[in-house]
Amino acid sequence: MSTDTQAIQSQILDAFNFRHATKVFDPARKISDSEFNVILEAARLSPSSFGFEPWQLLVVQSPEKRELFRDFAWGANGAFNGTDGQLGTASHFLIFLAHTDATMKHNSEYQQRFMKEVKQLPDEVIGFINQAFQKFQEHDFQIEGERQITDWSAKQAYIAMGNVMSVAAMMGIDSCPIEGFEMDKTVEVLEQHFGIDPKLYKPAVMVALGYRADEPQFPKTRRTQEQTVSWF
Ligand SMILES: Cc1cc2nc3c(=O)[nH]c(=O)nc-3n(C[C@H](O)[C@H](O)[C@H](O)COP(=O)(O)O)c2cc1C
Repeated sequence: MSTDTQAIQSQILDAFNFRHATKVFDPARKISDSEFNVILEAARLSPSSFGFEPWQLLVVQSPEKRELFRDFAWGANGAFNGTDGQLGTASHFLIFLAHTDATMKHNSEYQQRFMKEVKQLPDEVIGFINQAFQKFQEHDFQIEGERQITDWSAKQAYIAMGNVMSVAAMMGIDSCPIEGFEMDKTVEVLEQHFGIDPKLYKPAVMVALGYRADEPQFPKTRRTQEQTVSWF
């Protein structure tokens, strides 16, 4: 193995060991525009099922807008440690939205346009994908109805979120994934204050990014490879 390969391997493992779910960020330290652009590109270039990219990303930088979530975003409001939490201290605060069945049910108008305009596919290929996607939703994966289709979209958003956190860690940037919020109230705030139509998009997950204020309180614990992986 070349020294370069070894160096890359240890950079990757160092980054994964460095990353932890950061509870409080140093509010004085901001992620640079160029590094944040790499983070957004890592999300944008992420894979998605059938390539439909069924998510949107909100970057919430206004402190007033972040505060709208404080009462019910218990996973980000610092209530557990008596701080301003990730909402009050993160350099950048992201909300991933999942597309609902309005655009992600098979044969939707949105998908036809997406395949033509973004993927630039010829009509016969679009016809083939429509058939395959309908079979996938109705028969193979059995994803029907608003909730199941939105959850499928959210799965794709989580892939992008994983990439966001990993590339951030490789640049020495901390992060915290956040599911600790009340769905109904989040939907309401997004509709009233961000103009997000809940028929089209539902919140999937939030991510705070920045630089840790302190070292993690507890060491990382994980099951062993033997406990998590089976070889056949
Ligand atoms: C989908 C998801 C949602 C999470 N939600 C929260 C949250 O709301 N607030 C929080 O402080 N941590 C949250 N976490 C962080 C986990 O608790 C943390 O990743 C886990 O305990 C492992 O610790 P580590 O990430 O520091 O290695 C979440 C993690 C994931 C993957």
